[in-house]
Amino acid sequence: MAWFRRTGKKSAATNEQEDSTASVGVIERGVIECEAPPVQSEWTPPAEKLLEVRNVERIFHVGSREIHVLKGINMELGWKQLVMLRGRSGSGKTTLLNLIGGLDTPTRGEIYFQGQPFHEWNDDERTAARRKDIGFIFQTYALLPLLSAYENVELSLRMAGVPRGEWKERITHCLELVGLSKRMHHRPYELSGGEQQRVAIAKAIAHRPKLILADEPTAELDSQMGAQVMSVFRDIIETEHITICMTTHDPTIMEVADHVYEMVDGKFIS
Ligand SMILES: Nc1ncnc2c1ncn2[C@@H]1O[C@H](COP(=O)(O)OP(=O)(O)O)[C@@H](O)[C@H]1O
Ligand SMILES: [Mg+2]
Repeated sequence: MAWFRRTGKKSAATNEQEDSTASVGVIERGVIECEAPPVQSEWTPPAEKLLEVRNVERIFHVGSREIHVLKGINMELGWKQLVMLRGRSGSGKTTLLNLIGGLDTPTRGEIYFQGQPFHEWNDDERTAARRKDIGFIFQTYALLPLLSAYENVELSLRMAGVPRGEWKERITHCLELVGLSKRMHHRPYELSGGEQQRVAIAKAIAHRPKLILADEPTAELDSQMGAQVMSVFRDIIETEHITICMTTHDPTIMEVADHVYEMVDGKFIS
């Protein structure tokens, strides 16, 4: 499997100013470099699978028309994996992410999340599971513009019902993980696209979810910033024991996946 090289070196080639405390590496000629792989803490994966999707179909009704978007999807997500969905625009990737994240329910088929029948749960039960165990990252970052990086992450902890006494340490930790300890009090408009996406990552992992769903998280970024986001993804998979399922079009980024599912017209091809 191809992977980004890493060293602790700073590079003048990067057009983003870097924190000296950044845990992310720095890019040289489009390659992420830092000294050593992230330290792996003791962690045993639970016995049940993180996610199983079985024969899932999604049909939308628009007026009298039926639009058959997903046509029998089977997939699995293991613990601490980086899994990618690729496919043309309109092939059904976002529809599938919405089902996995419990924002929508399948027309047919089953989705098991940590062994539990997600597809049978009502809206409130799925919302509770989502708040506890799932984080989302979007192409356009979805940060609140009037809040600082720190306050954006804080909002996520507030929404998840994390006790207030734990906020400060967790927010600081998450922003350090994504290499933004010196940008904590900046608002989104004072940050580059890559930095904003890293705030969005800190926000998505703050409540310690088990699964991150990222819909084209690098599509708005140049290749250097995209590579940096991928480096942060790899680090948080190790240190926070998270699985990331993301969509992308970028073949270079796909090289770092543990598994790639290719979607064509609502089905996976092998
Ligand atoms: N709520 C909806 N109602 C009707 N059609 C939809 C809805 N959501 C998605 N679709 C259709 O499903 C297809 C797949 O969309 P989407 O999942 O967004 O694809 P992708 O993310 O791969 O670009 C598109 O043709 C889209 O128009
Ligand atoms: Mg999409």
